[in-house]
Order: sequence, then C-alpha cells, then structure tokens
Amino acid sequence: MARILITSAIPYINGIKHLGNLIGSQLPADLYARYQRGRGNEVMFLCATDEHGTPAELAAAKAEKPIAEYCAEMHGVQLDIANRFGLSFDHFGRSSSDQNKRLTQHFAGKLDEAGLIREVSEKQVYSNTDGRFLPDRYIEGTCPNCGYDRARGDQCENCTKQLDPTDLIDPRSAISGSTDLEVRETKHLYLRQSAMKDQLDAWIDSKADWPILTTSIAKKWLHDGDGLRDRGITRDLDWGVPVKKGDQDWPGMEGKVFYVWFDAPIEYIACAKEWADSTGKPDAEWERWWRTDKGADDVRYVQFMGKDNVPFHTLSFPATILGSGEPWKMVDHLKSFNYLNYDGGQFSTSQGRGVFMDQALELLPADYWRWWLLSHAPESSDSEFTWENFQQSVNKDLADVLGNFVSRITKFCRSKFGEAVPEGGVYGERENALILELTRRIRAYEGFMEAMEVRKSAQELRAIWVAGNEYLQAAAPWSTFKENPEQAAAQVRLGLNLIRLYAVLSAPFIPNASARMLSAMNTLATDWPDDVEAALNALPAGHAFTVPDVLFAKITDDQREDWQARFAGTRG
Ligand code: MF3
Ligand code: ZN
Repeated sequence: MARILITSAIPYINGIKHLGNLIGSQLPADLYARYQRGRGNEVMFLCATDEHGTPAELAAAKAEKPIAEYCAEMHGVQLDIANRFGLSFDHFGRSSSDQNKRLTQHFAGKLDEAGLIREVSEKQVYSNTDGRFLPDRYIEGTCPNCGYDRARGDQCENCTKQLDPTDLIDPRSAISGSTDLEVRETKHLYLRQSAMKDQLDAWIDSKADWPILTTSIAKKWLHDGDGLRDRGITRDLDWGVPVKKGDQDWPGMEGKVFYVWFDAPIEYIACAKEWADSTGKPDAEWERWWRTDKGADDVRYVQFMGKDNVPFHTLSFPATILGSGEPWKMVDHLKSFNYLNYDGGQFSTSQGRGVFMDQALELLPADYWRWWLLSHAPESSDSEFTWENFQQSVNKDLADVLGNFVSRITKFCRSKFGEAVPEGGVYGERENALILELTRRIRAYEGFMEAMEVRKSAQELRAIWVAGNEYLQAAAPWSTFKENPEQAAAQVRLGLNLIRLYAVLSAPFIPNASARMLSAMNTLATDWPDDVEAALNALPAGHAFTVPDVLFAKITDDQREDWQARFAGTRG
C-alpha cells in the first residue's frame, strides 16, 4: 500500500469561490485523492482557508465585521460548500490556527539561526489618525495622470496607471479618510532567497518528471534579470502571525506580522497537526506524513494549484523548508492548471462575474458540475465555460450514455426477470470481447489517473461507458429473450454487473451518482477491478437489486437560456 499526501492550494478567505477557482486546484486534487483511495492506497488530503493579508482585512471591513469573526464565519461557509461539492478533505484547516502560528514562528526562528534572514529599513506611509502603517491599496488620492479623485496607492482604477503612494495628489487614508499622513521608517525581515539559489536550482533539476509549465516558470524566476530576489516576509498589519523567532520575541519587530505568502504554505503542514489535534491523535500520526525522519520518506507528496501559484511553490516555500535545515517532506509532483474562462471573458471574484460554487449547487447537484469541469479541465491551455457546452456534455455523457445505460438494463431486467440478477446462460464471444476491451481501457484509465491527466482520464472513462452501451445495443437482450431467454439472462447479468463496475470506476468523478448506483445494486463491494472478468461476476445470480430513479436529468433549452440570462451580469 502506497502512502500519498495531497494538498490543494488553500483558497483565500474573502468570499465564496467561483468554478474557475474550483477546477484550478480543489476539484482535481479531490479526483486524485478519491482515485488513490479507491486503489486501496493510504491518502492524506489536506486543504484550508488562507486567512491573512490585506484581502482578508478589506473583505471583513466591507462586511462590517471584526476580522476574526469574519474569518471564522467564512471558513464555515467554505467548508459547507466544499462538503456539498463532495470535496473529500481529511481536514479543512485554517491558516489562522494556533498550530500554524507556532509553526510559522518556528520556521522563522530556524531560518534566522541559519543566517538566512536580514533586516531592511524601508520608508512607508503612516496614518496618525488610524495609528498604523497603510499598505499601498489603503491610500487614496487624486491620480496625477487623469485627475480621477479615488485612485489607490498602487494603481488608478480609472486610467489603469500603476502608481506609488507618493505619486498621489492629496493622499488620504482609505480607512478613515484622514489626510494626517507621514512617511516613516520601518524595519522588515527579508528572507535571503538569493543565498539559496544554487540549492533550489539543483532541487528543481532533480525533478525531471515535472511538467514543462512548472519547471519553466521556476527556472525563469531563478535566472531572469537579477535572479532570485530576497523577499520581504513581514508586514505592518494587525491581522496575521505575530513576528517571533520560535517562542522568543524579535527585537524591533513588535507589532508586525508575517507576510501572508510566508505563513500560507506552512499551513499545509500545520493543517496535518490540526487534523491530529482535532481527532485526539498523537503528533507521531501527522509527523509520519511530514517528517522524513519520522516515516515520511516513503510518502509521495503531490500538490495541486493554478499557474499563478507556481513560483511560490517551486521557490519561496521550498526556500523556507530547505533553509530550515530540518527534515521536512518536500513536494514530489506539482500539478498546475491554466485558467478557466467564463462565457467570452474571465471569471472574476471582485466583479462577481461567472458562476460561484453556492449558485452552481442551487441549479444542479454537484456531480453535473464535477463532470463538466473535470472533463474540460484547463490543462494544456486556458479553457472556457459556456452554457451550450455544459448542456451538451451533461445531456450526452451523463444522461444519454451513463444514465440511459443504467435505466435500460435495470428496467428491462425488472420487466422480464424481476428485481434480482437473472440466472442461466454463460458469457460467450461477445462478452469476452467486451471484457478484453474493458480491460485495455481500464488499464489506460489507470495510467491517465496516475499521471493526473485529468481530461484524458475523463475521455477514457466515457469510452468505458460507451463500450457498455454498444454492447447492450449489439447484444439486444430484448430480442434475444424471445428465442433464447437463457442467453438473455447472461447478457442482463453482465449489464447489471457493469453498473457496479461503472460505479467503482466513476466514483472519483461523480461520487454521488456512484453511491446511488451501488445502492441500487444493493452492494458494498467497491474493490478496484484488477481482474475485469472477476469484477463482472461479482453480483451472482439471485442477487437482489432495485431500479434507481433517473440518475441524470437532461438540461432543457429553456433552462439553459434562463441560466445564461441570469448569469450574464455580475453577482449582486
Ligand atoms: N490563497 C492563494 C490563492 O488562492 C493560494 C495559497 S496556496 C499556499 O491564490 F501555498 F499558500 F497555501
Ligand atoms: Zn488615473
């Protein structure tokens, strides 16, 4: 039994995620986790909310809630939606947890001991009225370029010009509106990534099997321009992990917190401790996933993320881990995704454009979305969601191919033989040919799933469903029954066994429909079909079953048009 550690990029806390976010990390990670569990491997699948930083502060301010309260509430909301989408995390943690706070401070202490941290003095805008430093986007004023009077310190929304806060005419605080601002010196910690360049370079070179998309991004950051820059890992904010070296104070760093991108990936590790703590397990239980000196040397660690996250996972986070000098498990395979677009444009959280996870579930059950998203995953290039394409793929793949197969065979059996697997006849040439084809296709499916080739896996699974339909069409038990009921019995027996087989194979993609198929087949046997012939004899003659309700309803043209119109604008 292999041991597989899987993490999905942890979503920002500020609001419900859209379908583009979902297919960029959590959903493919879930597909892989479910598949590996289905193969009998031991899986630890972790995700969390990314709760620190300016976006979280701004979202809480907009919701007019204290930030801790806002985060607790939104974590609950995201967890609930994740459950309803069938995301099978072993733990869904929080980057603001006590475990992550301690571990982040621990890493900072180790990096400092290793001489990898330096202090830098910077000039930053301070608001006397608010009693705090203001990040660029908390400063507003008049744009020197176009005269727009609500330009932000980082950019003018009106003319898109990139700005420095000091460029603004009549600058004021976006929090209080106060103009009592001054430029002050402030000290920050920098992680000396440049000193680790060769070590990181060698580590990336050792990953020969990584996709080009991943290594090219990493190499570009390593070698372009002045190469890997040292990176500020602290901020003048209230909300975040307080800057400390382990549990010691850090002189001169009082009142500062770590930068969100420093503590967020550390949550991958802390999340496992949250899991252990919340279920009363000793530390050894999570450490065997994360410490190579405590059993994690035989773990295979796979990360899932959107392409914009790649630099942080190939350079910054590895720099933290390597720099600590401690035996932490490092990523073995990194699967990254391009973007999913929405109907001729981009999904956008800030503009509320596209379909969001909660809205999707109000229209249709999770499996419909899971199937479309996974079978159209933006792997080799960006891909696009359109309502036409969604309708077509649901109606064809799920309703016509899979759903229809299940309904036809169960109803036919009920009408001719009753609700039990029929007895009599033997599998002949046609059945053996099907077994051969399925064996070949299932082995191909396994190969694609192992390689995290999401679209190809979906295509192969669909071909497996099609093979059953074609068999049924050619065998035509409804005709056979007239001259040779024994042979028809064998054909129907095979068909019913196929339903169970399909449930097992399809569970990573459409877990709810799979569960319904298994329950209709009245079985708990979910062993992976290493031997297809044996798998097609798993339900013996006489085994009782029931005809399930319609597995997948078709999307009508009226529905499609209605949804298209409803989601044409932005979320209110
Ligand atoms: N919250 C980030 C995003 O949504 C991802 C953080 S991944 C982690 O882009 F590595 F930092 F945890
Ligand atoms: Zn402007």
